[in-house]
Amino acid sequence: MKTSLLIVPATAVFAVGVLALVSLASSRESAANDLAERGRIERGRYLVHHVSLCIDCHSPRGEQGRFIEEKHLTGSELGFKPTVAMPWMPVAPKIAGLPEGYTSESMVHFLMTGERPNGRPGVLPPMPPYRLERADAEAMTAYLRSLK
Ligand code: HEC
Repeated sequence: MKTSLLIVPATAVFAVGVLALVSLASSRESAANDLAERGRIERGRYLVHHVSLCIDCHSPRGEQGRFIEEKHLTGSELGFKPTVAMPWMPVAPKIAGLPEGYTSESMVHFLMTGERPNGRPGVLPPMPPYRLERADAEAMTAYLRSLK
């Protein structure tokens, strides 16, 4: 009789302990996910600002052609044009927060293939037809999505 009375609380204590461990593990996992996402965004920022230079066309400039820091990637008229007749789009749209009609997956697809979502025709020059690797496209998309 005494032992069975003890078994019940012991089982309860064990169950609570297991639950605590499970929730500790899952909060560790979500902290690790947050850290991985922050790393992805940071790498995306590096690729967008310093490697593929999306900012050159998609960020507006103010005095003396300097970037307006708080308006990065909010779209801009281009400050240059071609010297020969050719297909050309003189305005680069806002891509901060992802452009209109894009999900994360369709943005990654666009950066890997040049294909726009919903079967729209491809982009005109001078938008470069990127063929990025998935990891880079995902990092850049995570960064763009993190912006307003
Ligand atoms: C040399 C200038 C230039 C650079 C560099 C550039 N873009 Fe563009 N981008 C443009 C122009 C101009 C357009 C508009 C093209 C059109 O509408 O046909 C455009 C269009 C786009 C679109 C299509 C939006 C839509 O409505 O479908 C996306 C997305 C985009 N750019 C993302 C990027 C990203 C990301 C980078 C960097 C990896 C980048 N661009 C680099 C000039 C540029």
